[in-house]
Amino acid sequence: MTSGEIRKKYLEFFESKGHRVIPSASLIPENDPSVLFTTAGMHPLVPYLLGEKHPSGNRLVDVQKCIRTGDIEEVGDANHHTFFEMLGNWSLGDYFKKEAIEYSFEFLTSKEWLGLDKNRLSVSVFEGDSDAPFDDEAFEKWKSLGISEKRIAKLPKKNNWWGPAGEIGPCGPDTEMFYWIGDPEKTPESFNDDNPEWLEIWNDVFMQYNKTAEGNFVPLTQKNVDTGMGLERTLAVMNSLDDNYKTDLFCPIIEKIENLSTKKYDGENIKAMRIIADHLKATTFILGDEKGIAPGNTGQGYVLRRLIRRAIRYGKQISLKSFTKQISEVVVTMYKDVYPELSKNKDFIFNNLNQEEEKFEKTLENGLKEFEKGTNPFVLFTSYGFPFELTKELAKEKGIEIDENKFNEELKKHQDLSRTSSAGMFKGGLSDAGEETKKLHTATHLLRQALEIVLGESIRQKGSNINSERLRFDFGFSRKMADEEKQKVETLVNQKISENLPVNKVIMKKEEAEKTGAVHAFGDKYGDEVSIYYIGKSLDKAWSKEFCGGPHAENTGDLASIEGPEENPRDKERKRIFKITKEEAVSLGVRRIKAVLE
Ligand code: SER
Repeated sequence: MTSGEIRKKYLEFFESKGHRVIPSASLIPENDPSVLFTTAGMHPLVPYLLGEKHPSGNRLVDVQKCIRTGDIEEVGDANHHTFFEMLGNWSLGDYFKKEAIEYSFEFLTSKEWLGLDKNRLSVSVFEGDSDAPFDDEAFEKWKSLGISEKRIAKLPKKNNWWGPAGEIGPCGPDTEMFYWIGDPEKTPESFNDDNPEWLEIWNDVFMQYNKTAEGNFVPLTQKNVDTGMGLERTLAVMNSLDDNYKTDLFCPIIEKIENLSTKKYDGENIKAMRIIADHLKATTFILGDEKGIAPGNTGQGYVLRRLIRRAIRYGKQISLKSFTKQISEVVVTMYKDVYPELSKNKDFIFNNLNQEEEKFEKTLENGLKEFEKGTNPFVLFTSYGFPFELTKELAKEKGIEIDENKFNEELKKHQDLSRTSSAGMFKGGLSDAGEETKKLHTATHLLRQALEIVLGESIRQKGSNINSERLRFDFGFSRKMADEEKQKVETLVNQKISENLPVNKVIMKKEEAEKTGAVHAFGDKYGDEVSIYYIGKSLDKAWSKEFCGGPHAENTGDLASIEGPEENPRDKERKRIFKITKEEAVSLGVRRIKAVLE
């Protein structure tokens, strides 16, 4: 069975059960400050899980492209991927556990559909705890379908609970399906979730709770079903393959790598080839997404850069050079019918890959020279972008000892400091923030303070994202802001801009910093030393002070100035003003403001 056939069967099956097909959403989440990428089909559907009406009705089915980078270091085994496709069926307040499980069982085992052997099927259900009871409904349903009790594991939250996608929101117990991929003659009588030969292929989540900011699980009035079936794994199972990289979703990529490297996909080459195939596929999809994310030092761009660089590093192990574009071409060809955005954006994909590869080659060259001179590994990493893994490899070749603990300590300190950045997005390098982003970053601090004054309570920052056009600020607040409140906030910010207040930074010990009353954006994740940005004449009398890594404008007056490549003398008399362009809900209890310097 091919990947195309599985996608088609899945959609057809659920259409026959009254579901409407919806297209895959973008890989870059629109309304979720808690994740950089769409990691599951539920992300784009959160508003509908919370009760908003979906234009296509309350039974939906889709194939969603997903990116998970949480265990990027684990990629290299037979069935974990950075990019994967998730088949999902959705009930938005329509059917619940009984039907969801019946549909899953029928699709998996009926001859008309996948026709998998029901004797090689195991499941798990939620065992219950103080937040929610044992899921006896799911348990009984599986039993009634002929799954023996020994094949139904009762497991805790860690295993059988899904969501919320961020800190708060819809979530609930789930039931997971596993297929025996070992010798069919030796299928064990009972299920053991430690045995990797029981491969998880599908997850039905019963969204019946909403997790609140206080950590309570409140029953949802609308009960939903969210299921997720990994296409790559299912395809391998359907073709009795123990390696996803041998399926049609990877074969052409692996073949291309074999050709370019003149090495075979076996022995010690396997891991490198898998990582290259996985990372460059993910890279192609991120670059090919309509949002136009390019490699950079922040946010999604940073993840993208890491994926590309990691692929290149593993490429070196099998003597590949200038290869990323050629691999990516194969990916575009493979997927272009299912995801037309890839061919549409192929120039953007290939140009960025070429540029990034060239840049990284230079980094490696310079880093190598510095290494020869005996430069400290940490400086190599922070100032030259030279990966520590490479330093280690080189040191090993030359019989030099490297103090890995010391490196990790220094790195931790460095990261904690960058995390204090209010945007959280400048992590890993402040250098690529342009003048406009700096101004908007300062505007974000002014906005935060103004919100606190106008809304009259300590609002908690949930996320911030800045590009050269606008700022975006997410904060905990329970209701829509009134027009009047928005105006007050704008006026306050503009007043501070017109006061030409200096923006300054001090670095101090964390305990001292806390005493200054500066705002912490991200809980307790700070190192010993922190930097505080304050706006005003002195730290004592500052109008705003925050733990933050910068960078910022030097003076609030800069925010009003019009400058740049198209500078026009007449602009000297014109001033920009701070303006809120949008105020909306992101999820329960979290509001989002978008604002510009107009
Ligand atoms: N959200 C669940 C998962 O990702 C089911 O779709 O596994």
